[in-house]
Amino acid sequence: MTTAVRPAPAIESGGDENAGIICGGLTKIYSGAPPRPPGGGWGDAGAGRPGGPPQAGNGAGPAAGSVGGRVKAVDNLNLSVRRGEFFGLLGPNGAGKSTTIGMLTTRVIPTEGRAIVDGIDVVAQPALARTRMAVVTQVPALDRMLSVFDNLYFHGRYFCLSRSESKRRARALIERFRLEDKANAMVETLSGGLAQRVQIARALLHDPAVLFLDEPTAGLDPQTRLALWETIRELNRQGQTILLTTHYMEEADQLCERIAIIDHGKLLALDTPAGLKARVAAERVITVTLDRPDQGGVRDAIQRVNGVGEVQAAGAVLHVYASAAAGLVARLVEAVADGGAELRDLAVAEPALETVYLKLTGKEYRE
Ligand SMILES: Nc1ncnc2c1ncn2[C@@H]1O[C@H](COP(=O)(O)OP(=O)(O)OP(=O)(O)O)[C@@H](O)[C@H]1O
Ligand SMILES: [Mg+2]
Repeated sequence: MTTAVRPAPAIESGGDENAGIICGGLTKIYSGAPPRPPGGGWGDAGAGRPGGPPQAGNGAGPAAGSVGGRVKAVDNLNLSVRRGEFFGLLGPNGAGKSTTIGMLTTRVIPTEGRAIVDGIDVVAQPALARTRMAVVTQVPALDRMLSVFDNLYFHGRYFCLSRSESKRRARALIERFRLEDKANAMVETLSGGLAQRVQIARALLHDPAVLFLDEPTAGLDPQTRLALWETIRELNRQGQTILLTTHYMEEADQLCERIAIIDHGKLLALDTPAGLKARVAAERVITVTLDRPDQGGVRDAIQRVNGVGEVQAAGAVLHVYASAAAGLVARLVEAVADGGAELRDLAVAEPALETVYLKLTGKEYRE
């Protein structure tokens, strides 16, 4: 399969007017093991504030592919995310997602390359860039000893909002995120799902142009995950530019307009979910159910059909791996009759995003 990856346009001239995020040649080489436990991103409670210092790393797990203690976590990454776009970044553990977010959000200093967020060069003007962005990190970064309201309020104060403005925005976000009942609760008493909602609410307090969400739904139960999807989908509908990383293929498929798949720091593919799936449309699985167990006749007849690859037979059920050629289903129906059986059911499975993902990134364990 050929994977065309185009370089990000216009990075040299400062980026495209419509780009929410643009990066060119972005590269991070770490020397030495990660300094902090797994997680990545801004793990401290003061994360995301304009005056905060950049960090040497992002605290991910043990280094894979490290040579002499050096890890090329991100390797010449070119991306362009439109304003208002919902963009997904997928990749196995250690692929470089959090490092990419770290660089785009000024917390990790790139070894090479440039990144522009909402028109601001993040390396040249990190403090200004931080006023235009917010990040919800892989590790919860709320102040656990403060109430929900105070977490929001002080975030606003860090961003130099007046007391009254910070209070006003905190109240508005608490209402918008339906956190009224919990406004005075200490963060340490909240469930994981609720804490994630508070993190997102807090991130929005300074009205960022670009919101980075690093695995925001990891570890949440299905109900909470679905509710959070709705929350972030609604944010995007209202124009919020979002870059999301996730290990949940369905999440990326449902939420993202475009998805970049990266591994070993390199961009492997970048397309819409439908475009990515079309790459493996060639590999549909068709389940053929017969009226009685096949004695081999149907299997042989199906095997002779043009476009059919492997055929796995289990009694009356045959799994046919075939290319999505026109007229395939009709030919399979004929083959069943030729094989001397009657067709009970025929189901064509849509290619899943996971299939493309695994095809591109392989199936071996990571990190
Ligand atoms: N501060 C650091 N110092 C040294 N190596 C690091 C540091 N942070 C990350 N790494 C290494 O860089 C590579 C990319 O890590 P990164 O956290 O960006 O991956 P990820 O895609 O976010 O993974 P995950 O899905 O597990 O969160 C890994 O090999 C990791 O061990
Ligand atoms: Mg990560």
